[in-house]
Amino acid sequence: MKILHASAEYFPYIKMGGLADMLASLTKEQAKAEEVYVALPLIGKLGKEPKWTGNEYKALLPEDAKEGTIAVSLLTKARFLEAEESGVKLYFFDSELFANLESIYGQAEEHYRFAIFSYACYALSQFLQVDAFHAHDWHTAIALALQKNSQKSIPSIFTIHNLAYQGDHPFWMTGFLKEDPFRLVTSPFEHDDKCNYIKAGILSAGQITTVSPGYREETLNEPNGFGLSYVLNKRKDDYRGILNGIDSDEWNPESDKRIFQTYNTTNWKDGKRKNKESLYQEIGRPKLPLDAPLIGLIGRLTYQKGFPTFLQALLERRHLPHRYVVLGSGDPETENAFFHLSDTLPDVFYFYKGYNESLAHKIEAASDFFLMPSLFEPCGLNQMYSHAYGTIPIVSRVGGLKDTVEESNLLKYKTGIVFEPNDKASLGYALERANNLFVSRERDDVVKNIMKLDWTWTKRKLEYDSIYKTAIELLQ
Ligand code: ADP
Ligand code: GLC
Repeated sequence: MKILHASAEYFPYIKMGGLADMLASLTKEQAKAEEVYVALPLIGKLGKEPKWTGNEYKALLPEDAKEGTIAVSLLTKARFLEAEESGVKLYFFDSELFANLESIYGQAEEHYRFAIFSYACYALSQFLQVDAFHAHDWHTAIALALQKNSQKSIPSIFTIHNLAYQGDHPFWMTGFLKEDPFRLVTSPFEHDDKCNYIKAGILSAGQITTVSPGYREETLNEPNGFGLSYVLNKRKDDYRGILNGIDSDEWNPESDKRIFQTYNTTNWKDGKRKNKESLYQEIGRPKLPLDAPLIGLIGRLTYQKGFPTFLQALLERRHLPHRYVVLGSGDPETENAFFHLSDTLPDVFYFYKGYNESLAHKIEAASDFFLMPSLFEPCGLNQMYSHAYGTIPIVSRVGGLKDTVEESNLLKYKTGIVFEPNDKASLGYALERANNLFVSRERDDVVKNIMKLDWTWTKRKLEYDSIYKTAIELLQ
């Protein structure tokens, strides 16, 4: 089977969050059995230089190559450049719309740029004659509407990684979608008086998925449907939750080149201690006690991630011996609060503002616990990375976190600590339980058990296979 994915992110070329990791690891697994292609934008600053093959593809279908709109002329000048990575063919969309971008999101004109990219992805699916077209998040959702309208529709799948980001714009900004080469009727995409790209994707895709069964259930109701639960309910029978997998080559404490000391289920205690000691030296806090529990936190500092609740709970539980190392950037208010703590409580709290892939691995390896206080979480990857690194996750009971972490009374099923979202008392009590677990005899068994959990794609890839099959059957 030939599958084309369309996405704004792909690790290590463009990464802002979990979408990049999810897609790179899924396609690597798919490529063992299928022909797998990924279309992504060629921005000015890529995380890695691609291995170009020299092949090129056009971005405009011959039947759409009529003179007239700016969109048509931009697409005439654009092209896809082919590269290869781990058995997957990558198609970088080379267009003046993306060429000068240093990062993929947050720029003006996103509604236009991603619609043009979406058209190009749709055209590429036709040139490559793929069996399935798989679009991810709102950035590529318009391609699904084009696919549905086309005389030569290709079976399509839409994966929602985060319903909070919908790509909704006032209609006066999206009038171009009615013109060449799109020629879409946009009134069905209306939500809350705006043209909503993710709604277009939900209505147009053959099959829809999201990244955990728990999040699927949540999105069928408000407030987690972010206003679109009524649309998802209409397509409920074609909507599935498939848990993300992780790449055990990238995230493996036994072979990780980014960490100070590799380790496995036998020597984890020693290995993690060495990682902790070296991390404390690297961050300039060499005197922090190695015997006190270290809690790691990494992530985009946005509303979703629930960091203010954590701050309140931390301050209320100052008697606990925990140390905290935090990596992330985002909301200035949260950043400033973290800077303040880092400065006023240097023997308890350390904050690194920014994006740092290596430091993320070092924190996973050094920490005893990993905290994810999310208010909602479609899947979350760090709780699974934490399991692999023998770092006990402390997570809120939401979305993919509740599907992957269980605080069971039965030791063999205990894979972390779970608390209620947006509840500082519940989070505070979870921090207390972490302390008790840290000094208990149970700890060694919990660590060994979680390190053996299998969160790879091997089995879960089959769930996507069955979705592709259904999408293909629908069009026959
Ligand atoms: P989301 O996609 O909502 O950001 P996920 O848990 O799915 O959440 O994935 C986040 C990914 O991004 C993880 O691999 C995490 O380690 C990484 N990440 C987030 N912020 C940073 C950062 N500041 N530096 C390095 N890696 C980060
Ligand atoms: C999104 C979600 C996150 C998920 C990731 C990959 O960014 O916020 O929970 O793990 O996509 O699917």
